[in-house]
Amino acid sequence: MKILGVETSCDETAATVVEDGVKVLSNIVASSVELHKKTGGIVPEVAAREQIRCIIPVIKEALSQAFRSTSLNPKGLVDAIAVTVGPGLIGSLLVGVETAKVLSYVWQKPLVPVNHLIGHIYGNWLQETKIDFPAIVLIVSGGHTELVLMKRHGRFEWLGGTRDDAAGEAFDKVAKMLNLGYPGGPALQKAAENGNSQAFAFPRPLIESNDLDFSFSGLKTAVLREIKNLRTSALPIANLAASFQQAAVDVLLTKTLRAAQKYQAHSILLAGGVAANQNLRNEFKLAVKKLSLARQLFIPPLAYCTDNAVVIASAAYFNFDQWKITPQKNKKQALNLKPDPNLRI
Ligand code: KG4
Ligand code: ZN
Repeated sequence: MKILGVETSCDETAATVVEDGVKVLSNIVASSVELHKKTGGIVPEVAAREQIRCIIPVIKEALSQAFRSTSLNPKGLVDAIAVTVGPGLIGSLLVGVETAKVLSYVWQKPLVPVNHLIGHIYGNWLQETKIDFPAIVLIVSGGHTELVLMKRHGRFEWLGGTRDDAAGEAFDKVAKMLNLGYPGGPALQKAAENGNSQAFAFPRPLIESNDLDFSFSGLKTAVLREIKNLRTSALPIANLAASFQQAAVDVLLTKTLRAAQKYQAHSILLAGGVAANQNLRNEFKLAVKKLSLARQLFIPPLAYCTDNAVVIASAAYFNFDQWKITPQKNKKQALNLKPDPNLRI
């Protein structure tokens, strides 16, 4: 089954053709990040305009790379269309959803609506298809920090999440305080490389709490307070970055291991943009090895941590039966599809 995937939830316009959930025939990602650098963050209206500008060329390129043909009429080549319906920015989401609806109608192919967060989880299947359930998944992105119990494909149970800032948001905001530019996550990781992670004793919010929730706004404020206390323009940036990063990773790791223990998980999965963080990846690998847990750790390749359409097509393939799509039903379902910026798991 060949699925055309479309992802436009934020500032990336992405399209792909994936065969049987894991064979990537094409993977096109256009990002408007350069425009957002000027404003130090995403302006939703600017992101949506860029989506409109890029969506058709990006889909065309994904189809022509996959099928080595310049015709935009892959009837008989594509079996279904998968599109991100939320969560995300409404203006951006609308562009992908409306485009996918039109293609589904014209080509008379099933349209599969995909939750962006579930999509992130499938970055793991692009690396390894033998993943034992139940699995505990830590989703860490710019807008989300969620712990999810995955009992099998299509069965996801939300266990906890952030009460305030998302992990990626905290990375971005602390990077801004340290004048590291935008996007903050990768810049902060780089700045932390030569820093001492013990230099500042930043708090680990909710690390001891019995629930599976997170909170990052106190940690972010602690960094701001420290910067003000230092009263110097020559900030110890590397040490501040490394100490913040360690505090964030400590909390994410501790809570994920606690969830894995509680639910007797066979696997631990990381997902989302922050899963690209090298320190987070290393600490998880080390912890799982050290505890010689009878659990396997899975981490998506870097390209499938941050936003892309491949994981959306893959999620649609592995969850296809969920939608019980029939040709008769699909037309109506597809035309009625609406994006949901606040979609949850
Ligand atoms: O999943 P994603 O690409 O988009 C959303 O769905 O939000 O995640 C973007 C987030 C941003 O906050 C970005 O700063 C963060 O992921 N990020 C990182 C790294 N690479 C991306 N955070 C820490 N370290 C990284 N290497
Ligand atoms: Zn994302």
